[in-house]
Formats: sequence, structure tokens, C-alpha cells
Amino acid sequence: MNIPTVTPQAIAGKRVLVRVDFNVSLAADQRIANDQRIREALPTIEFLLEHKATPVLISHMGRPDGKPDAALSLSCVAGRLGELLGKQVVLVDRFWASDALPRIKKMSAGTVALCENIRFYPGEESNDVWFGRHLSGFADVFVNDAFGTAHRTHASTVGITRFLPSYAGFLFSREVAMIGCALAAPGRPLLLIIGGGKTPEKIRVIDRLLDVANTIYLGGAVANTFFATWGISVGVSKVDHEMIEMARAVLWKATRVHARLILPNDVVVSNSGRTAKPSVRPFHSVPKALGIFDIGPVACRELDGYAKEAKTIIWNGPMGMYEDDRFMAGTQSVFRSLAESGATTIIGGGDTISTIHDQTLLGKIHHVSTGGSAMLEFMEKGTLPAIEALKNHA
Ligand code: 3PG
Repeated sequence: MNIPTVTPQAIAGKRVLVRVDFNVSLAADQRIANDQRIREALPTIEFLLEHKATPVLISHMGRPDGKPDAALSLSCVAGRLGELLGKQVVLVDRFWASDALPRIKKMSAGTVALCENIRFYPGEESNDVWFGRHLSGFADVFVNDAFGTAHRTHASTVGITRFLPSYAGFLFSREVAMIGCALAAPGRPLLLIIGGGKTPEKIRVIDRLLDVANTIYLGGAVANTFFATWGISVGVSKVDHEMIEMARAVLWKATRVHARLILPNDVVVSNSGRTAKPSVRPFHSVPKALGIFDIGPVACRELDGYAKEAKTIIWNGPMGMYEDDRFMAGTQSVFRSLAESGATTIIGGGDTISTIHDQTLLGKIHHVSTGGSAMLEFMEKGTLPAIEALKNHA
């Protein structure tokens, strides 16, 4: 797929608005748990600096719903990015205010500005045309390097391309090329492993990917809603009741298509405060007072079997509450299965990436994507709203 990628001629000496995805996982103490998404954006930022451009970075973090939320400030990201670049990164707040543009214009070439969480403003997610126009006033050129957010039709991913010459950054281009190439004619069987949260989105994606994958294996919070749909008690685990009907339709579809949809045979349970000693239970006998926090050893072995027979494996979303050492075994086991499988392997998503600490195993994965839902949607549709916007407005 051909998307226009940034060149020296396009940006040299200019002010460049760069959409990045710095939606990083934070630890309980607000420290960055994994900075991979920040590191992956460095080549584009450094390229701009080398060519005497002034990067004005835009990102979201979390889902603050159009309102400021101190817990979702990008100030910790500005600090980390400054360390990685070896220069100060100026955090620009209130960039909707009338003095924002003069503040940004005053910055000398070589300065890096990071605008405060773009989702503090309702115009971002509604793709408001005036908001897009306002953003475009900050720069001469737009570069999108946020592959992780390329499935969103927002002002800073799609709307802005109407107002500025627009290009993909290096990360964005690489993601599109790598994932596009692996999925153009994937080796089969194609195993898709989906865990983590964002259940409503994932159930919709699973529905459509039943037509693409040979096996879909579910873990994490998304599996709970499917258990509940079967009428199986998941104790105090979170279930998305509004998605039960959709999950039922997906289960029904799975009986009619070629793909297998598999839920874990056994699970690791504890109480909601996670003070009770974890124990392994069959999926159908979770006590009422306990909840599911990981997949169990039988499920891990089963998943390993599917991984060994697969020729392509795509994984998004941890299998359990990996932040707690007692519940990371399932996620670690999936990671090992992928690394040792011999298949073409792609893993993606901020939380999934955060679980990976073993660099040797990581080196055996063919592509580690910064996108989670974006990767899945790209897999399903072969394109994304932000890709189309770049193709139309270079
Ligand atoms: C992600 O983490 O998948 C991206 O940053 C997009 O976040 P969103 O699902 O809140 O739009």
C-alpha cells in the first residue's frame, strides 16, 4: 500500500504538527510502565530536528471524555521524551486559548513542543471542523506517526488533513508495510489471540474476524462476557452486560463459519481485592465470591498446541491481570508460545507490549505493533480512516 511518507523537502525548516500515540500504560504511582510507544516515535522526531524543523507533537492519553483530567496529563511523557531526546520538551497546555499560537510561534527551531492531552477537548473525538482548523494554525505541515490511533476518525488523525499538506511518519509507514505484507496472503492456519479489556470494541472485531482467522482464542476480560453469555458464572469478574446479545450472535456465527472460537478451559481465581491465595479452577466452577484473573495451565498448554500448528499468529491483549506477578503466568506463556512457534508472529497493543520484558524472546517476534485495536481493524478492513485521509490529502 502506497502512503505518502515524510521527506526532507516536505519539512525542512518548517513547523510540523506531528500526531503521535503516547497513550502509554501507567503504573499505580503514575510512572510510565512501558515507554515503547515513545521510543518508536523517536526516528520521526529526530529526523525533523535534523532538518531544522520544529516538531509540535499531539497525543491523547486514556479517555478523559473531552474534559481536563490531571491523572491523564502528558507531563510524565514530556519528561520521558526529554530524557530520550536529550533535550527539554515544552508541554503546551491550553492550546485552544488565543495565546497558544503566539507561544508556539515563539519557539525557536530545534525546540520540541508537546501539546497537552488532545482528548481534554471535545472537538477532538467529534472531529469538529473548527477544532481541526485551529490545530492546523500551529504548523505548516502535518505528519501522522500515530498508527495506534489510525482507526479513529478524530480531528488530529483525519480532520486536520483537510487543512495541511499531510504525510505519514516513519513508524506509521513501517506499521502499514509490515502488517499489510504479513496479512496480504497469510500463512494458514491463522491463529488470532485476543485478551485484555475494551470488550465492546473487541466483540465487534471478533465478529468480523471470524471470516478471516482459522482459530480465535479468547482470554482476559473479553472472555468473561462470553462465559456469561453461555450462562456460566464468572463470580465477581467484570462482565459487559450490554454486549451479551452481540456476544451471543458471535457465538452463533462461530457455529456456522469455518473458524473456531475458543475460550480457556481453566482459569486462575482470587477475590476482588486479590488478597485471597490464587487457585486454578475449571472455567465452569468459579465461586461466587471470586473473580477470574488469568488463564490456567491447561488453557496455556492448549494455546501452545494451536500456536505450534499455526503459520501466522496475531496477538492483542493480555490474558489476565499481568500487572500483578501472581497473574502474569498466562500472558507470559502466550508470549513464549509465539516466540517458539515458527509461525509469522505479530503482537500489538499498549498493554500487550507492557507485559514483555524478555528481550531475547522479543527478538523472535516478527513485528511488534504499537497498535492494538488499530492493528485488528487494519487486519479486518485492509485500511484505516487515517490511512485513507493521508492518501487523499498529501
Ligand atoms: C490504543 O491504546 O489502542 C490507542 O492509543 C487508541 O486508544 P483508544 O482506544 O482510547 O482510542
